[in-house]
Amino acid sequence: MTQPTRIRRVPARRPRLLDLFCCQGGAAKGYADAGFDVTGVDIAPQPRYPYRFVQADAIAYVREHGAAFDFIHASCPCQFYSDTQRLMGNDHPDLIAPTRAALKATGRPYVMENVRGAVPHLHHPVMLCGAMFALETYRHRYFEAGGWTLTAPPHPVHTAPVAKMGRPVPPGHYGQFVGNFSGVDLARKVMGVPWMNRDGIRECIPPAYTQHIGRAALAHLAPALEVAA
Ligand SMILES: C[S@@+](CC[C@H](N)C(=O)[O-])C[C@H]1O[C@@H](n2cnc3c(N)ncnc32)[C@H](O)[C@@H]1O
Repeated sequence: MTQPTRIRRVPARRPRLLDLFCCQGGAAKGYADAGFDVTGVDIAPQPRYPYRFVQADAIAYVREHGAAFDFIHASCPCQFYSDTQRLMGNDHPDLIAPTRAALKATGRPYVMENVRGAVPHLHHPVMLCGAMFALETYRHRYFEAGGWTLTAPPHPVHTAPVAKMGRPVPPGHYGQFVGNFSGVDLARKVMGVPWMNRDGIRECIPPAYTQHIGRAALAHLAPALEVAA
């Protein structure tokens, strides 16, 4: 009598992630931790970026190469959506709509991330908070998912007092780590970004957020990536 053959399904290769507007790689680290092979793109040189890096315009790059990746992350610069920058009369382009159009043209699943001021420009964004990942900072960030569904963990009530912006973080308080914040070493530890300087930290997503997104994205991608072993 022939025995039934058990077919084990394994990923054929490491899934490829394209990290647009990558800066110093906060988002990238979480995706790498989740299991992605990461390539970052930024218009400015990023010598601290820990993964493969391409200096280029993100929208031009994704239009040309985006379809070669399994999943795409895009963190458009947030200055256009920031209240402070608007009040200061600073002129920044709105990159969310053109980035979305370029992402959709690839046919790949994606997330676009931004700050609260950009929420009216994002489609059904999901909010992630540091407290969802036991980080000692709240740092709400908003994620539009395209071509798949992203869910957030339960949102714990904020109980810790928050340090005043730009002031040292007193014991027992949570830091904000934006603008010209005080306490680079503390911020590195709290957010899990030990390789970054102040410029990278003020812009970054804590890797814990994108590790959560990356794991969910891998579950979504699994049927397409697996082969019988
Ligand atoms: C908010 S930061 C990204 C932060 C990053 N996701 C992280 O978690 O560390 C935005 C980045 O977009 C870059 N940038 C601005 N315009 C760009 C463009 N047209 N193409 C590529 N990168 C651009 C900036 O140099 C900056 O590093």
